[in-house]
Amino acid sequence: MRKQIAAANWKMNLTIDKAEALLDDILKENIEPAENGQVVFAVPFPYLMMAAGKLNGKARYAIAAQNCSNKKAGAYTGETSVEILQSIGINYCIVGHSERREYFGEMNQMLAEKVDLCLAQSITPIFCCGEALEVREKEGQNDFVRKQIEDSLYHLSAEQLQKIIIAYEPIWAIGTGRTASTEQAQQMHHFIRSVLAGKWGEEVAGNISILYGGSVKASNAKELFGCADVDGGLVGGASLIAPEFVQIINALKH
Ligand code: 13P
Repeated sequence: MRKQIAAANWKMNLTIDKAEALLDDILKENIEPAENGQVVFAVPFPYLMMAAGKLNGKARYAIAAQNCSNKKAGAYTGETSVEILQSIGINYCIVGHSERREYFGEMNQMLAEKVDLCLAQSITPIFCCGEALEVREKEGQNDFVRKQIEDSLYHLSAEQLQKIIIAYEPIWAIGTGRTASTEQAQQMHHFIRSVLAGKWGEEVAGNISILYGGSVKASNAKELFGCADVDGGLVGGASLIAPEFVQIINALKH
């Protein structure tokens, strides 16, 4: 059965003391996710090693970077390569978050390069896709998301694809408090899975975890994660509040 994942995306929040306290508060709950469960914390770069150290061998917990370079190595001031991430024991990386696409000009082709570099270093990319409000208002969301997946992932083999996590994050639901309805989430997740099935086959598509992101909270997580094709969430704001995120972890399907 595919993994059910609660992933925290802290974005550019928390100073080190608050970051440590937040992780401590969540980890002290000692939540043991089910066999197919996974908890991931995508923390700011300077906290990666501190956060990884706190996991202390907990098999179902992992730390992620929020971004990586599309270049392998070299004179790219301010960038962080997947090789550097791998060398400090990081096994997950968010790729193509809508904030990276929107504010830092990241394009589908560049994201394909990032995905390739991650896979080459055995880092699991959490590949983000999702449409803006004006696209949804014109009912263009399916074509839009299909194109994001085609441009960034279609070159992968079935074996490679199965090492990827997909996060569907409708931009209109991010940080707005406006969550997609369970119908909207399930519809899009089912659509994404059918796109994957069309290219790589039903069995491969059935193995891919597809997370929902966009105003996930303790109060709506259970309902969203209960959808057949929603395999957990990528959580921003609510992941910064320990009791909220603890409940979100506990809302994963078993
Ligand atoms: P919010 O949960 O704050 O809406 O953010 C979602 C997100 O962008 C996670 O990557």
